Amino acid sequence: MSIEDLPSTFVAALIDIVGASDVVTAADQRASYEVDWTGRFRGVTPAVVRPADTAEVAAIVALCRREGVAIVAQGGNTGLVAGGVPMAGELIVSLRRIDAVGDVDLSARQITVGAGATLAAVRTAAAAAGLAYAVDLGARDTATIGGTIATNAGGLNLIRYGGTREQLVGVEAVLGTGETISHLGGLIKDNTGYHLPSLLCGSEGTLGIVTAARLRLVTRHDHRVTALLAFADAHAAVEAVSDLRSRLDSLESAELVLDAGVCLVCEAFDLRSPFADPHPVYVLIDVADSHDPTDDVASAVGALTTMRDAAVATDDAQRALLWRYREDHTLALNTLGKPHKLDVTLPLDRLAEFIDTVPTVVRGVAPHGQTWLFGHVGDGNIHVNISGVDPDDEAGDDAVLGYVASLGGSISAEHGIGTAKKRWLHLSRSTEEIDAMRAIKRALDPDDILNPNVLLP
Ligand code: FAD
Ligand code: MLT
Ligand code: ZN
Repeated sequence: MSIEDLPSTFVAALIDIVGASDVVTAADQRASYEVDWTGRFRGVTPAVVRPADTAEVAAIVALCRREGVAIVAQGGNTGLVAGGVPMAGELIVSLRRIDAVGDVDLSARQITVGAGATLAAVRTAAAAAGLAYAVDLGARDTATIGGTIATNAGGLNLIRYGGTREQLVGVEAVLGTGETISHLGGLIKDNTGYHLPSLLCGSEGTLGIVTAARLRLVTRHDHRVTALLAFADAHAAVEAVSDLRSRLDSLESAELVLDAGVCLVCEAFDLRSPFADPHPVYVLIDVADSHDPTDDVASAVGALTTMRDAAVATDDAQRALLWRYREDHTLALNTLGKPHKLDVTLPLDRLAEFIDTVPTVVRGVAPHGQTWLFGHVGDGNIHVNISGVDPDDEAGDDAVLGYVASLGGSISAEHGIGTAKKRWLHLSRSTEEIDAMRAIKRALDPDDILNPNVLLP
């Protein structure tokens, strides 16, 4: 849909709600909102509307419902499943202006923030008050709290604190009906019916547009040790992580990378290899405590009989360097073209077998496809990226997701379904579950105007 397809009265009404400067229609100004982070998914929107508060969001949704105009909600546009870009010509509602970060409530250990606040802004505010926001991920400087709620983002610290849903005490949102629900009082014991924050969390913008959230904060641990551990194969690495989880309560992250991925990162960013001799598989661990955990790490790591080598860092600069071997995978892969990005969870006892076999599964249907594996091994989540195949060629995706389902895994660990994976939703959800989701969608968004092309096939 282009701006010419919308009645001029509709555009005038949008301008009445947010002001002319926040209804963006010029092609060059819309461009960055219309394409996803990988460049693989691109749509066209008639306009980007940038409300300043919840009342403006409610007015936009009511107007769109009246006029039958579909909306895509967008935060930082770092999503990786084409959920926040206008793949079917939807109007974009950008939440980035609603970015207030409230004061930290020290006694409740909570904070109220606008949906457009970045993850980094919330983490900084929590840290300044001596606490921490538990969710962290590579896109922290751009991803918004609203986006992380909509996708139930997992990230790097999930093994210790849980994902976004576990941090969500309350939420404010505008439903597809145009009505606003707001429950930001922060009571942690509140058994008064359906937990709507949990329902909205992970709903990928299909039920409501989140405008604010009340978040739980956790203890800030100032003493940190990071280590890169080397293994001969995936079986040894997976076993070591389960051993470390039982020995180290202060284990915050356990991330897997393979030699090929580390070489790619080193090449893309001109970094030195972490070890003089390469090893097939690495696990990056981050340990955080209120006392120096160096000895705890040394004793837990020392007990790993299958470990081949280790690089341990205690100062921030060295720690950051070790993290680059893991976090820079996403950027490095983008230098190879437009990757197909899959994000799956396996039962822990099938994880190593999956890592060993999946490149062959891909090659079987996409002989030119190269498979890259990395991810949050502590929680069974592996990111499968396929480079060297056409953006529209989904044979590799299909084979990988079918294989995941055959091993009892999930086709999305943390990125969500978006538009990119909805045709495979049935691999992880039964017909009855999908019908139940549709019934909820109909109740909260009766005219199907919120992200109508996302999640539900
Ligand atoms: P967007 O991309 O703008 O939107 C994502 C989805 O949420 C869309 O469906 C959109 O319609 C919906 N949405 C956005 N805002 C709202 C709102 N206010 N109300 C309702 N719906 C809304 N993800 C992880 O889970 N773990 C990781 O470790 C991780 N690491 C990443 C690293 C990099 C370098 C990149 C580029 C991405 C990474 N991601 C990760 C994916 C991404 O950052 C997350 O999905 C994040 O939650 C998206 O936030 P966003 O604000 O950018 O949302
Ligand atoms: C990550 O863990 O780095 C992200 O989820 C991003 C990606 O999958 O590339
Ligand atoms: Zn991830």
